[in-house]
Amino acid sequence: MSKDNITAAIDVGTTKVCTLVGDYDRDGVVQILGIGISPSRGLRKGMVVNIDETVESIAESVEKAERSSGCKIVSAQVGIAGGHISSLNNRGVVAVNRSDRIIGDDDVARAMESARTINIPSNREIIHIIPRSYTIDGQDGVKNPVGMYGFRLDVEAHIVTGAVTSIQNLTKCVQKVGVEVEDLVLQPIASAESVLTEEEKEMGVVLADIGGGTTDIGVFIEGAIWHTSVLPIAGHHLSNDIAIGLRTPFAVAEEIKARYGHAFPSAIDPEAKIDVATFGAEGTRPILTRHLSEIIEARIEEILELILVEIKRSGYEGLLPAGLVLTGGTANLPGIEALAKEVTQSPVRVGFPIGIGGLVQDLDNPAYATSVGLLLWGLKNRSHSSNGDYGQHLGTVYRRLMGWIKELLPQ
Ligand SMILES: Nc1ncnc2c1ncn2[C@@H]1O[C@H](COP(=O)(O)OP(=O)(O)OP(=O)(O)O)[C@@H](O)[C@H]1O
Ligand SMILES: [Mg+2]
Repeated sequence: MSKDNITAAIDVGTTKVCTLVGDYDRDGVVQILGIGISPSRGLRKGMVVNIDETVESIAESVEKAERSSGCKIVSAQVGIAGGHISSLNNRGVVAVNRSDRIIGDDDVARAMESARTINIPSNREIIHIIPRSYTIDGQDGVKNPVGMYGFRLDVEAHIVTGAVTSIQNLTKCVQKVGVEVEDLVLQPIASAESVLTEEEKEMGVVLADIGGGTTDIGVFIEGAIWHTSVLPIAGHHLSNDIAIGLRTPFAVAEEIKARYGHAFPSAIDPEAKIDVATFGAEGTRPILTRHLSEIIEARIEEILELILVEIKRSGYEGLLPAGLVLTGGTANLPGIEALAKEVTQSPVRVGFPIGIGGLVQDLDNPAYATSVGLLLWGLKNRSHSSNGDYGQHLGTVYRRLMGWIKELLPQ
């Protein structure tokens, strides 16, 4: 196995922190070498609100992943989300430099630099600038312009920005654990790497990662990212609604949501009941399972409506041909696919992480879409770094790991 590509990824979610270590095997398949999952404390709605608690959660997850992989993690791809994220599309234009008019990497880099010149407030920072498509002398829809002839190169780029303070808080938490942040990757972009097929992205698809604190949305058209957005509402709000509606503690609401929850009330026996611990009274009280389902349905409907608003905001009012792919822990809810089909009137499927080997059984859950996607993103950008894809690559974990081992070995 080539060791040059060993990569680590940390998904700092609102409910769990998941660290993965992976590498390509001889056949070019990504192998998961180590997993570390710990409950997340210190985050609200995808953002760090308590540094010490977040650092503890990350440290626990990183230690577990190090133990299970036998690798020391010195740097990692890290996911970012939260309501502070916003995105826009911008165009960059340059004249082709070379006298033979063959477009080179440097022309593409200059075009991207030109697309980057946007006015953003000083309290915001660019997280991603991703090329969507190129136009050469008016001919649009070019995916890779390098090597083609032209006088003028235009690039359509997707730009994601975030609040400097939120970015710094997250970076600081990871650094305090002794891990360097290689790239900050927007969570819906990461999740898309692991759950969407190339065909779906080509045809036009919406990805919604409904986690604990945020619903991360990505719209993909003609193989490229078109729109990204993060809504500060997800599974945590469902449990909150259940806790209030059934007058039960939050922890009980979480448990009954996962055990008996269903997003499609008409699929539930109208007579079926469950015993639920309530506030104030001794013991438990029977409630109709259908009532639980109605509470869930109302909140999921609201989230789906907000997703539709985002699709509209992206400029695509009509339905995207490949429909909606739901992922994130809340996509485990039975009936969510049926409800989403009814609300959006489009094809819907639940997306599990794909494209990996190794310790895959443990990750066969939509909740791990972001973590697996971060790893795939890291490995892909590492192997593409020579052609400047996304221009975001920094260093390799393995080289640093070897440096660290050498320091420890007796001379
Ligand atoms: N079987 C299930 N039924 C309903 N909800 C579930 C189920 N399994 C997990 N969840 C919910 O999924 C949520 C956690 O999802 P996930 O692990 O994707 O979130 P996260 O990545 O930690 O948070 P975020 O991405 O929002 O910051 C929790 O609200 C949890 O209650
Ligand atoms: Mg998540």
